[in-house]
Amino acid sequence: MAVAGAGAVLALVLTVLAAPPPAHAAGGGRCAGESFSANRAYAACSDLPRLGASVHWTYDRASGDLSVAFVVAPAAPGGWVAWALNPSGDGMPGAQALVAGPFPDDGGGAASAWSVRTYNVSGYALGDPGPIAFPASDLAAELGADGRARVYGRLRLGPYGAGVLNQVWQVGAAVTGGAPAPHAMGADNLAAKAKLDLLRSTTAAAGADSATQKRNIHGALNAVSWGVLLPTGAIFARYLKTFKSADPAWFYLHVTCQLIGYGVGVSGWATGINLGKESKGVTYTDHRNIGIAVFALGTLQVLALFLRPKKEHKYRAYWNMYHHSVGYTVIVLGVVNIFKGMGILGVEQRWRTAYIAAVCVLAVAAAALEAVTWGVVVRRRKAEGKTFGGAPANGHLPH
Ligand SMILES: *[C@@H]1O[C@H](CO)[C@@H](O)[C@H](O)[C@H]1NC(C)=O
Repeated sequence: MAVAGAGAVLALVLTVLAAPPPAHAAGGGRCAGESFSANRAYAACSDLPRLGASVHWTYDRASGDLSVAFVVAPAAPGGWVAWALNPSGDGMPGAQALVAGPFPDDGGGAASAWSVRTYNVSGYALGDPGPIAFPASDLAAELGADGRARVYGRLRLGPYGAGVLNQVWQVGAAVTGGAPAPHAMGADNLAAKAKLDLLRSTTAAAGADSATQKRNIHGALNAVSWGVLLPTGAIFARYLKTFKSADPAWFYLHVTCQLIGYGVGVSGWATGINLGKESKGVTYTDHRNIGIAVFALGTLQVLALFLRPKKEHKYRAYWNMYHHSVGYTVIVLGVVNIFKGMGILGVEQRWRTAYIAAVCVLAVAAAALEAVTWGVVVRRRKAEGKTFGGAPANGHLPH
């Protein structure tokens, strides 16, 4: 019954998650009212979390070109602004940056008009301007009457366009000797980084929706299987076992729950490996490694079902210890990875809350059953003590 219930929940969650997201998932905020010179317009925009910046973009899936506009006020009049994609990390080292400011022109003339330079940043210093990993064209910048700078460009992303990219941005207070002077080290300066999700809001809406759908299905399959079914199956095994009337029903419930959970989990895992292959720009190393470990240990658990010694066998106690410790490890790692995954996808708070609620229900159920079963065992031991004068108790708690 519980298994059928979980199946129904899975079906429901999949239906809801697979529904296409609103066309402008990232475009609802302040940034949507922005206007640009020369009739420039962008399909999507997002308000960046620090320094009052926003980024606007159109991503052409066919050509792999990203047209981008970055808007932010420099730290002081005469200062500079920068926006970058970082294919190799989430901070400054590795950033492929567009830096704009009142740079002197090549003739060494007085600085007044804004221009854009590209920097391949290799460490925590900006270095010299030069080519970047994403061939850049149509570079332009202007300082608006409102004191905010607008930086425009077109980047050829190539294979990096298929996924979520890291972006970093920055503002500085001065241009000295023709180069951007170091920026301040305030909390906002250091935290000015975010994901740029090209798939969530692109011009080619059909492709974008299918990518979002794939990720949501990946999340739902794994949350329901590793995150709910397997812990539920473990609860069946640990607590129903105590009740003699539930023997061997607990075993079949446990095995059914775990086999369904494992089956769903493997398909969720496979979707994850596939997403990893498609996301050329960013690899979520921890999430990926934990996922692989959980899958491997889960597979061992299923094999253990077929390789277990008979109940009376002298090695059965060791097998039990092994089976239980691997099982609890799978559950803990699975739940941790689900939270990591929700962080990566930036899932809406209501899904996070729903999953936290599910984990709490399981934890409370386990705690209550722990108390009840201990009560049963203690009472049984007392009764047996009276009847048989201390004969070994056969009402046991599994370890
Ligand atoms: C950027 O710098 C890194 C390290 O210094 C180098 O390996 C890479 O080839 C450079 N990229 C470009 C496009 O010049």
